[in-house]
This record gives sequence, structure tokens and C-alpha cells, in this order.
Amino acid sequence: MIVLKHVLLLSALVLVCSGIWTCVVESSGVPQEEVDALKQIAKTMGITAWEFKLFNASDCVVGTVEIAPPAQPDQEAESTVTCDCSFSDATCHIVSIILKRLNLPGTLPPELANLTYLQNISLLANRLSGEIPKEIGNFANLSYLSLEANQFSGPVPSEIGKLVNLHTFRINDNNFNGTIPDFIQNWIQLTRLRISDINGTNQPFPVLDNIKSLRRLYVGCLSVLFMKA
Ligand SMILES: *[C@@H]1O[C@H](CO)[C@@H](O)[C@H](O)[C@H]1NC(C)=O
Ligand SMILES: *[C@@H]1O[C@H](CO)[C@@H](O)[C@H](O)[C@H]1NC(C)=O
Ligand SMILES: *[C@@H]1O[C@H](CO)[C@@H](O)[C@H](O)[C@H]1NC(C)=O
Ligand SMILES: *[C@@H]1O[C@H](CO)[C@@H](O)[C@H](O)[C@H]1NC(C)=O
Ligand SMILES: *[C@@H]1O[C@H](CO)[C@@H](O)[C@H](O)[C@H]1NC(C)=O
Ligand SMILES: *[C@@H]1O[C@H](CO)[C@@H](O)[C@H](O)[C@H]1NC(C)=O
Repeated sequence: MIVLKHVLLLSALVLVCSGIWTCVVESSGVPQEEVDALKQIAKTMGITAWEFKLFNASDCVVGTVEIAPPAQPDQEAESTVTCDCSFSDATCHIVSIILKRLNLPGTLPPELANLTYLQNISLLANRLSGEIPKEIGNFANLSYLSLEANQFSGPVPSEIGKLVNLHTFRINDNNFNGTIPDFIQNWIQLTRLRISDINGTNQPFPVLDNIKSLRRLYVGCLSVLFMKA
């Protein structure tokens, strides 16, 4: 019995999608707080067509997510929530949220920060708007963050600078204003950076000399002066 439990706890279980629009996630022991946060996120992002059922948190059956097909289904659309059960606290945690090309119309809620174990967030190509909550800086192990191609506005919060484990940072094609975040020059582990469309006053682009690992850089539509260091 105990052995079986350990075997279950050690397996990282991934959301199983049948077709594009119906997904079921099964795992064991996702904390209620994370399940509640997921529900709140779905609601705030405007996923009215989702059916989000919690069957059994103790068995780590998070629920069923159904997304009504948008008017023009996008073959590259993806909705995946991944949970990992190999943590030392013997609990399963949600480690990845991929919601791509789903036409989501809402906003990004602060409750996202309650999913403290997140490593990957991709909200690529939706219609999400509003400001980025400062709580986004709370993820100790976030390595992939893409907010690319949405309608986010306001400043890029300085709290994002706390995400020292980021490898990929993509915030291009939004409506941000203010300054280009200086903190990106401290992310020495960064390999991919895409940043564009920040409407502010002319300013120097942060010096990226320290980011020796950078492999891909995309910049565009910035009010910047590129300066030689
Ligand atoms: C997020 O966590 C805070 C406390 O850390 C709690 O007050 C709040 O209810 C949580 N929200 C959700 C949606 O779980
Ligand atoms: C929920 O958990 C209980 C107790 O562990 C178990 O008997 C029941 O089969 C579970 N239900 C589902 C739908 O997994
Ligand atoms: C996060 O994304 C990276 C790069 O796409 C991938 O290699 C990794 O497996 C993902 N991790 C999780 C937990 O989804
Ligand atoms: C972060 O990663 C470390 C090393 O893998 C792990 O021990 C820790 O539990 C993780 N913490 C969170 C909040 O994901
Ligand atoms: C950015 O835009 C918001 C409205 O979306 C405005 O209130 C704010 O003053 C702008 N900030 C800058 C620095 O232009
Ligand atoms: C940038 O901001 C200025 C002042 O707020 C505004 O007049 C201009 O239309 C904006 N440009 C773009 C491309 O949004």
C-alpha cells in the first residue's frame, strides 16, 4: 500500500488531451490552494466556456477542462496544465500552464502567484489585457515566461527582476509603456529574449554583456537608443 503510494507520488503526471479541446489532468495530492488558484485564473482570464470540475484533490485528480472551440479553431492552440509529484514534500504541484492561441479575453489575476511551483507559463497569442500583476515576481523556479502577442498594458513590473531562473522571457507584441526593464541585464542565465512595443521616452537599451548564454534576441518598436557599452 505504502509502496504503491510512493510509486504514484514519484510519477510526474501530465495532462492528457483528447482532441484539442478536452483535457483531463490526473495526479495525486495537489493542494487545495493550488486547485482554487487554477479555478480563479480560469475565471479571470475569461474562460467562461471551461468546465472545471474538481473530482478528488486527495487523489490528485484536478479536474476536467473543456474549452469550447472558438469560431475559427486554431490548430496550434494548446491548453495544458502539468503537475509534478516528485517533490520532497510528497505533494504534487502544478508546474506548468500553457494556454496558447485560445483567444482568451480576460486579465491576468494576482492569484497566479499562488501556484508557487510554476516553472513554465505561456499565454502566447491570446487577447489578454490589463497590467501584469506584481505577484508575477514570486516564482522561485520559473524558467519560461511568455506573455507574447496579447494586449497587456501599463509598465513591465520591476518585480519580474526577481525571476533569476528565467531562461526564456518573451513580452513582445503587447501595449506596454514606461521604461525598458533594466533588470534584464542581471539575468545571466537567459538564453532567449523577445521584447518590443514599449512606448516610453527614449532611453538606452540595457547592456546585455553579462548574458553570456543568450542565444536568441528579438527587439522591435521600442523608444530606445542603442548604445555601445
Ligand atoms: C492565495 O493565497 C493567499 C494567501 O497566501 C490566500 O489568501 C488566497 O485566498 C489564495 N487565493 C487562491 C485563489 O487560492
Ligand atoms: C476520491 O477519494 C476517495 C478516497 O480516497 C476514493 O474512495 C474515491 O474513489 C475517489 N474518487 C475519485 C472520483 O477518484
Ligand atoms: C518548460 O519548458 C521547457 C522549454 O520549453 C521544457 O523543456 C520543459 O520541459 C518545460 N517544463 C515543464 C515543467 O513543463
Ligand atoms: C525549486 O527548485 C528546487 C530545486 O529543484 C526545489 O528544491 C524547490 O522545492 C523548488 N521550489 C519551488 C517553490 O518550486
Ligand atoms: C502608461 O499607460 C497608462 C494607461 O494605460 C497611463 O496611466 C500611464 O500614465 C502610462 N505611463 C507612462 C509612463 O506613459
Ligand atoms: C505612445 O504614447 C504617446 C503618449 O502617451 C502617444 O501619443 C502615442 O500615440 C503612443 N504610441 C503608440 C504607438 O502607442
